[in-house]
Amino acid sequence: MRAYALAVLMLAGCAGQQSAMHAAGDQASTLMSLFRLMMWVCGIAYLLVILFLGWGLIRRRSAADTSEQPYHKLMVGWVGFILLGLILLVVASFLADRSLGQRQQVPLQMRVTGHQWWWRIEYRAGNGRWIETANELHLPVGVPVLLELRAADVIHSFWVPNLAGKMDMIPGKINRMTVTGRTSGWFRGQCAEFCGTQHANMALAVKVEPMGEFERWLAEQARPVSPGEGVAAGRKVFESASCVVCHQVRGTEARGRVGPDLTHVASRRTIAAGTAPMTHGSLRGWIIQPQAIKPGTSMPPSDLSPQDAEAVASYLETLR
Ligand code: CUA
Repeated sequence: MRAYALAVLMLAGCAGQQSAMHAAGDQASTLMSLFRLMMWVCGIAYLLVILFLGWGLIRRRSAADTSEQPYHKLMVGWVGFILLGLILLVVASFLADRSLGQRQQVPLQMRVTGHQWWWRIEYRAGNGRWIETANELHLPVGVPVLLELRAADVIHSFWVPNLAGKMDMIPGKINRMTVTGRTSGWFRGQCAEFCGTQHANMALAVKVEPMGEFERWLAEQARPVSPGEGVAAGRKVFESASCVVCHQVRGTEARGRVGPDLTHVASRRTIAAGTAPMTHGSLRGWIIQPQAIKPGTSMPPSDLSPQDAEAVASYLETLR
């Protein structure tokens, strides 16, 4: 499992799926421009320091020239350059901050709540109702989305480097940030504030997709599970076991709000916030012994028989 997670992480690194250097959104582009400007100003200052140092060393060895004149001019030029550079950086970072903090009227609003150690995500559907999912954020291309960031227990931090900078999620407070995805694709977000033993396993999958695709996906997520849907045996076990105390499957008896909403759990790419891939094996393993996969998680080990756990895994797999 660890080897898999490591491989995914390394591959994600290669593809630039979690990289501030590969901006895929307006806010990340603003930050990248500021970063480039800082690199240029500081890089030139560094080169000049090295050049003057070298020049000073050579001059000291070769000449017995005691004239102070050239040094004065150099000093004035140097101080001027530093002042100009600093003013440029102050103005640029002020402008970048202003542009990131702008709260224009946005057509879409979503809520992201940090939990130990997963993400509750709510979308405002067409009829004003909030639709809940977990650990996977979908955004339409080119549309500014206002994210309301909250925390349910301790301080977390929302960070999808390809799309925008970090923003803390603080219990009792709502922080807001606007995100505008520009490039379609999958990106990886990561909790960026130490929030307990499984902080590292608090990943967020982000998909930026064309508006039509996003709307189809949202309509599918909004659909409650129909009465006969899913593997009947597994569904019966799931609804009679303690699963329903914490988990919700809209349209069924499962109405718990403690853990992630499982209405369309099998449509997600991973389980336990990026800890394991969405496969039958990891679903079953997670149901039987979640502490072995993610020690410290609030999900308790189950008292289900292996057959029942198997049936529940088969049921969950059909919730697409
Ligand atoms: Cu949540 Cu670190």
